[in-house]
Amino acid sequence: MNEQELNGRRAIVTGGASGIGKAAATRLAEQGADVVVTDIDDANGEAVAADIGARYIHLDVTSSDEWDAVVTKHGPFDIAFLNAGISTGEEREPDELPIVNLTDAAYRQIMGINVDGVVFGARAVLPAMIERGSGDIIATASMAGLVPLGTDPIYTLTKHAVVGFVRALAAASEQHAADICFSAMCPGFVDTNIIDAEFKEQMIELQLSMLDPLVVGDTVLRSLSERRNGAQWVMWHGLETSVYEWNPPIDFTTVVPPGVSVV
Ligand SMILES: NC(=O)c1ccc[n+]([C@@H]2O[C@H](COP(=O)([O-])OP(=O)(O)OC[C@H]3O[C@@H](n4cnc5c(N)ncnc54)[C@H](O)[C@@H]3O)[C@@H](O)[C@H]2O)c1
Repeated sequence: MNEQELNGRRAIVTGGASGIGKAAATRLAEQGADVVVTDIDDANGEAVAADIGARYIHLDVTSSDEWDAVVTKHGPFDIAFLNAGISTGEEREPDELPIVNLTDAAYRQIMGINVDGVVFGARAVLPAMIERGSGDIIATASMAGLVPLGTDPIYTLTKHAVVGFVRALAAASEQHAADICFSAMCPGFVDTNIIDAEFKEQMIELQLSMLDPLVVGDTVLRSLSERRNGAQWVMWHGLETSVYEWNPPIDFTTVVPPGVSVV
């Protein structure tokens, strides 16, 4: 992507105060996009926005009211990077299976941020994109959206949900010949605050490296340039970034007419 290629395009980034969101916001701003950094961590969000010449707006992605208010006041958006997310954070002994001790509150929290946050975000930004005839919606899933992460089945559930959501919206976009591109970022381990200190130490002991968050920021730019609808962008330390577009032999979109619901 050439410098200033995104000039004039307005981008919203969720979870932009830290890690991958911060890296993507940085790359988008470097390319001349008009970036709106959002998060619930106002202090770090303000600092990121000041550093990269962007605006910061408080947005809890779990609140559809907050989404509507932000889009009404600061939209319309040409680009939405729906990135905010957490892990389950379930505490358990090494010999205990996951989810047995999962509380309702912890379950609702991760579903609210990782799933509702993406659905509410896409729903809020889409009408203006449809009206203007174009747009890009990129969600941060994970490698755990494609392969099971046995240590955190609920995180795996949410990220598979994000991949399925993006792929289905991409199919719908093609069916309606809308120029709205949906894709998912699917990185492996990235060196950010979501990974706790103990895990980082284990990675170092095992001589395993994590991705720099800017690799994901670069891939966000690449996805905006290549516009591969429905793609899952797979990133793993030491490997070339690859694009995964799995097309099974049967595709609902070829057999079900637009507007018909399948249960
Ligand atoms: N770091 C990794 O190894 C990795 C790998 C694959 C996918 N991911 C995904 O990347 C995304 C970004 O995570 P990260 O690794 O940069 O972690 P991070 O903890 O550095 O950043 C997450 C950001 O989301 C914000 N956030 C949390 N709850 C929020 C809410 N309700 N509303 C708005 N913002 C909220 C946090 O304040 C934080 O700034 C997540 O979706 C995560 O699941 C991370």
